[in-house]
Amino acid sequence: MEHIHLETKDLTYTYPYGTKDLKKVNIQIKKGEKIAIMGPNGAGKSTLFSHFNGLTEPTSGHVEIDGEKIIFERDELLKVRQKVGIVFQDPNDQLFAPTVKEDVAFGPMNLGLDYEEVEKRITESLEMVGMSGFEEKTPHHLSGGQQKRVAIAGIIAMRPDIMILDEPTAGLDPEGVDKVLDILNNLNEDGISIVISSHDIEMVNQFADKIFVLYNGEIIAQGDKHQIFSDKELLKKAHLKAPVTTEILYKLKENGLNVDTEKLSIEETVEEILKVKKIN
Ligand SMILES: Nc1ncnc2c1ncn2[C@@H]1O[C@H](COP(=O)(O)OP(=O)(O)OP(=O)(O)O)[C@@H](O)[C@H]1O
Ligand SMILES: [Mg+2]
Repeated sequence: MEHIHLETKDLTYTYPYGTKDLKKVNIQIKKGEKIAIMGPNGAGKSTLFSHFNGLTEPTSGHVEIDGEKIIFERDELLKVRQKVGIVFQDPNDQLFAPTVKEDVAFGPMNLGLDYEEVEKRITESLEMVGMSGFEEKTPHHLSGGQQKRVAIAGIIAMRPDIMILDEPTAGLDPEGVDKVLDILNNLNEDGISIVISSHDIEMVNQFADKIFVLYNGEIIAQGDKHQIFSDKELLKKAHLKAPVTTEILYKLKENGLNVDTEKLSIEETVEEILKVKKIN
């Protein structure tokens, strides 16, 4: 049987005095998957993520990690937070210590690890994100992209089974985006399930195995990249656009070329274009 890592069951959340911000959200994330949650501003992505490690308690419904319901008691929540690591949308919400090193040390120290192990994890995780040498710097004096990488290092140092990253590439330069994707792919190869939110369709096209579309607090679609990217109405509703490769293949098809519109990467798209013939 497939191992379900994280599951929400009829998860509903209403901000105090607010409208319903999450409405009966049911999603399943299997071990080793790379998931993207997409949806317009205000759809509820960050609110949903804050439920994944028990930072927010649902108004109704619940979240299960490895088949166990999150219980809102101190010891239980510590266990959940060891399994599920969250990198927030804004590094300022995450980084608070006077130095990078202390920031990354905070999580492992809270796990009660000894000094040597904490040191080892700091070195390893800063190396993974390419931030070795920044140990004594003040997080708030780093650039946005560097802060993001330190925030990721802080979570890696906890060695979670599932990593949740809210807009991990927003505001990064193209090389920064590739670096973060490399980090996430490396973690995934080590067996860590990865869940990201993003509006960046080209990045999601490169990265994700599966996409959930959240709109107005509801999951309105889920599927593989092709299922989502080929649904024009869905994309429009969710304020998204298909990747440029998909747009090109559909345009070629409209113009009478017998191309397979399911190709997604640039390489596959070029190959497809080179081998097609006119239908008529
Ligand atoms: N602390 C809060 N109190 C009340 N309402 C809130 C709070 N935080 C968010 N909301 C509301 O909840 C809804 C979902 O917000 P959320 O931040 O989860 O959206 P999002 O999908 O992450 O958007 P974005 O793409 O802009 O990051 C919005 O309508 C927002 O105004
Ligand atoms: Mg958000």
